[in-house]
Amino acid sequence: MFFDTHCHLNDKAFKDDIEGYIQRAKDEGVTRLLVIAWDISSSKKAIKLADMYENVYAAVGIHPVDAVRTPKSDLLILEKLLTHPKVVALGEIGLDYHWIKDLNERQIEHEFFTAQIKLANKYKKPIIIHMRDATEDTYNVLKDNRPDYEGIMHSYSASKEMVKPFIDLGFYIGLGGPVTYLNAKEPKEVAKVVPKDRLLLETDAPYLSPHPFRGKQNESSRIPIIAQMIADLRNESVEEVGKYTTENALRLLKIEQ
Ligand code: NI
Repeated sequence: MFFDTHCHLNDKAFKDDIEGYIQRAKDEGVTRLLVIAWDISSSKKAIKLADMYENVYAAVGIHPVDAVRTPKSDLLILEKLLTHPKVVALGEIGLDYHWIKDLNERQIEHEFFTAQIKLANKYKKPIIIHMRDATEDTYNVLKDNRPDYEGIMHSYSASKEMVKPFIDLGFYIGLGGPVTYLNAKEPKEVAKVVPKDRLLLETDAPYLSPHPFRGKQNESSRIPIIAQMIADLRNESVEEVGKYTTENALRLLKIEQ
């Protein structure tokens, strides 16, 4: 059984086929989904989906790219959403220097990032980190604003050398489609070195479809393709990878079996 710890079932791409999406995932053994938000509207949609389906859980939060055009007052709305019983994490939050180049806008990213870490600590939630072209600054923010309830480095794309420093700050390493890409050297190296008790599977659907579906709309039913590649890289069985990554997700997100 697999747990997709990062999908955007709240994306408009899926709005007419929620049932089908969940069924296709189930058919492939992907029985639990964590739906990740990027703003207030997608946070509310994630909660709505979690309310409708037993094995669907919600993460609420404001993405760094969205933060630059978000009023600060949205943090108060977010705080209320965090008390919902099926909200098991806060995210995705972090720093994105790929899309955001302006220094004033990067300052806004930082403000939303640290404010949301504080909220996660207050409401005892793990955080889900989006980090793009900003490894050093993200690490420094997290070192100075330690998450009290751990978190996930989502679609981890930094070096294998940085895996341990992030784990030492309390993070799990989320791996998805990029480990299957033919030219992806670093993600494959990372997949080999993450300790068993710190690895998680994710799709980031509708993005980052695994090979041979790269560039097509992704969905949670493709988790086994990612798990198989990780199993091959680590000389483990796909069943084993599914078992311990699911156990990791349940432990981190404090979900009763
Ligand atoms: Ni995402």
